[in-house]
Amino acid sequence: MKALVKEKAEPGLRLMDVPEPEIGPGDVLIKVLRTGICGTDLHISAWDGWAQQAIATPLVVGHEFVGEVVGTGRDVEDIAVGDRVSGEGHLVCGKCRNCLAGRRHMCRATVGLGVGRDGAFAEYVALPATNVWVHKVPVDLDVAAIFDPFGNAVHTALSFPIVGEDVLITGAGPIGLMAAAVARHAGARNVVITDVSEERLELARKIGVSLALNVAETTVAEGQQVLGLREGFDIGLEMSGRPEAMRDLIANLTNGGRIAMLGLPSQEFAVDWAKIVTSMITIKGVYGREMFETWYAMSVLLEGGLDLSPVITGRYDYREHEAAFADAAGGRGGKVILDWTV
Ligand SMILES: NC(=O)c1ccc[n+]([C@@H]2O[C@H](COP(=O)([O-])OP(=O)(O)OC[C@H]3O[C@@H](n4cnc5c(N)ncnc54)[C@H](O)[C@@H]3O)[C@@H](O)[C@H]2O)c1
Ligand SMILES: [Zn+2]
Ligand SMILES: [Zn+2]
Repeated sequence: MKALVKEKAEPGLRLMDVPEPEIGPGDVLIKVLRTGICGTDLHISAWDGWAQQAIATPLVVGHEFVGEVVGTGRDVEDIAVGDRVSGEGHLVCGKCRNCLAGRRHMCRATVGLGVGRDGAFAEYVALPATNVWVHKVPVDLDVAAIFDPFGNAVHTALSFPIVGEDVLITGAGPIGLMAAAVARHAGARNVVITDVSEERLELARKIGVSLALNVAETTVAEGQQVLGLREGFDIGLEMSGRPEAMRDLIANLTNGGRIAMLGLPSQEFAVDWAKIVTSMITIKGVYGREMFETWYAMSVLLEGGLDLSPVITGRYDYREHEAAFADAAGGRGGKVILDWTV
């Protein structure tokens, strides 16, 4: 089968023929229909410092996908050939304290699809049945392809109650944009998003945020004045991984405010801890998705009319992977999709 492979310890990816994956008794074989390109895939392709220590070659990359079940192992129940599915990309050990307690998203030994084992940028992918999410209600294929990052957005945006709250989101990348859509849909009063890319802020306006602020030109404090906020934001969602953005959140939160932090900083940085203490701010780190509570929430949010279509801005044939990766790395648009059915 065709697959996008990190073949050697050097920059780039190669579209090449590899053997189809084999499945064990508890696994499902899936024909891949569409995939989403994630920042992780860009890191692996570019072969940066993180990728060099995290990846063993050769590796089929990719973890965001939708596909159709074409085979099931003998122990698999409740998943059938022909089912339309996406996959939870965190494979857990099932044995550690958190796994045994049902907190699988907090497993100590998580292995990433397309990071620690062969992934989904291929014609077929194999996954344990416990990682497969069956779309019981029809979902747009492009949206189904990005359930993994959509789950990051939902997990973060619903970390704290947001009905009627004023929410500040830093970073209007694909995940920040989806979080903005979720926060609005879930009943936040004001949803303000910040970025330094005018193109991405324009996408946020299409989603219908209260205010999309270019923090290269204006401050969050000025944004508060525009909206008539007197005491600061109630909830912060950090979705950029940038130190300046975390400082913006801390400085503009009300007393007792709460921050859910998804953005992954590339290194340590300083923040105003005295302000965090005296403002009694709660900071929660968010990784991945809750299995499978977040997946349930995603499906019902879409059923309830949540519209993610403005977030998807690039669609490519898998053979045009170089152009697709360049589009995603450009950092100006939204999510980029590869079609594997052509
Ligand atoms: N914790 C997890 O499980 C998890 C999963 C996926 C992604 N992530 C991280 O979440 C973040 C969002 O992912 P993404 O794919 O949308 O990333 P992205 O890099 O596409 O988006 C980040 C955005 O932040 C913007 N930005 C830069 N400086 C800023 C500033 N000072 N203020 C506000 N915005 C600023 C960038 O212009 C960009 O649009 C990334 O840091 C990513 O590494 C974490
Ligand atoms: Zn991803
Ligand atoms: Zn575990």
